[in-house]
Amino acid sequence: MQIKFTNTFKPTNKDILLLFVSTDNLKGLQNYTGFKGDNFTQLLADFSFEGEKKQVLDLPAFTGSKRTLLIGLGAQDKLTESELVKIGGFAASLVKKEEKIVVSFIIDQNTIPAKLNVINNLLTGLKLKAWGFDKYLTDEKHHLTYKIKEIILLNVKASEVNLEEIEALTKGINTAKDLIMEPANVLYPESFVAKIKELEAIGVQVEVLDKATLSKKGLNALLSVANGSVNAPYVVVLKYNNASQKQPLAFIGKGVTFDSGGYSLKTGVGMIGMKGDMAGAAAVVGLVQTLALRKAKVNVVGVVGLVENLVNSNATKPGDIITSMSGKTIEILNTDAEGRLVLADLLWYTQQELKPQFMINLATLTYAVIVALGTQRAGLFSNNSELAINISSSAEQTGELVWQLPLGEEYRKSLKSHIADLQNITLDTRSSGSIFAAMFLQEFINNTPWAHLDIAGVSEATSDTDYNKKGATGFGVRLLNSLVKNYYEGD
Ligand code: BES
Ligand code: ZN
Ligand code: ZN
Repeated sequence: MQIKFTNTFKPTNKDILLLFVSTDNLKGLQNYTGFKGDNFTQLLADFSFEGEKKQVLDLPAFTGSKRTLLIGLGAQDKLTESELVKIGGFAASLVKKEEKIVVSFIIDQNTIPAKLNVINNLLTGLKLKAWGFDKYLTDEKHHLTYKIKEIILLNVKASEVNLEEIEALTKGINTAKDLIMEPANVLYPESFVAKIKELEAIGVQVEVLDKATLSKKGLNALLSVANGSVNAPYVVVLKYNNASQKQPLAFIGKGVTFDSGGYSLKTGVGMIGMKGDMAGAAAVVGLVQTLALRKAKVNVVGVVGLVENLVNSNATKPGDIITSMSGKTIEILNTDAEGRLVLADLLWYTQQELKPQFMINLATLTYAVIVALGTQRAGLFSNNSELAINISSSAEQTGELVWQLPLGEEYRKSLKSHIADLQNITLDTRSSGSIFAAMFLQEFINNTPWAHLDIAGVSEATSDTDYNKKGATGFGVRLLNSLVKNYYEGD
């Protein structure tokens, strides 16, 4: 989708004009052909159009264009980034059949909250909503991708928007969504590696650790998950360096390309959607892509563990004991609690070998987090209050919401196995499953500031929302891109 600028626009009867207008600036409409004088005031009054948030006035053939859509932004001092992205997405759904739209903004830059780039956020929403996963729909009639190919910005100065940033962010999010939607017969560890390698073209270093290397380094917890599949496991380390600061920020993703549960087999219904058990890894890849594309002043590493949790005669059995890379032994009582085994080694590996400033992992880790927080918020766990606060405030800003849940000694007892250092599930299966999983992960961290985002509930949407279609949300890319931008960027 292309975004272009113009100041001299003479609408033809083929053009759709979208005017975003705040309640404070209705008069600004008078600068547009056809909106002059009393007629205009009367028209708005007749339709009770006041510019309230998401209020729409659809005017056919009024300004010389085929249609003119007035879209309310609400009051300017109430505008927030997350609301603007939603309104942008909402606007896209009004013009989904148009190939070209002309867009203008009737806002007063002087009364907009500091740092809020209204136009950037609206355009981000517009672009995000245009995404669709149509590659397997052979009949174009059924395609979900919006047609919008070109957005012409009317009376917008180039300095008012950052096209590179919009492009970088939406590309990263769409990469994550595409990866999540791809079925497991197409996206398995090896083909996932090939996708990640595409990022080399934008200056990301991609290091691939194969099974032999992982085995030599002792990532046996991760390897134990992959035992039951003919598809070999991989760990991929993505590096993007563009700052003088030495210690990188580390983002780590669970990349179980399919989770059958292993011998602790899921039910038929429970297995649906488990091609998306790599949403954490997808978000990490999308995030690194975004940071590289917008040339963020930061050093980052992305670490993803790509495995398939299936069943064959080599598969891990309940009761098996393995030695993780950290040296701690784990009794695997449930092969469906596999994400924590993958992350245990990834966290240890990252901490020991990459020495990051902090580590944030994303994982579709527990069903229990959906019970606790629904599909509205991800679970946040952290050993560091500054990091947790920074994540929470970036979450509120972007609308990719989180809620912090506790870690603590009071939960520790259930981690201990009587014949190994740890066990991978608590036997009290109905209580605090997400906290137990997070406590388990913490066993593999020394002093590095760390946060864990349990995204099982938020990685996919069951129906369309303002700026997402049903399916993958790409949760995490926007949140963590903002986190980096707000707190950790710069030389
Ligand atoms: N991948 C699942 C968690 C999940 C569930 C993600 C639903 C997305 C939607 C994870 O590997 C899992 O199976 N967790 C088990 C853990 C249990 C066996 C302790 C769970 O949550 O039931
Ligand atoms: Zn599982
Ligand atoms: Zn899983």
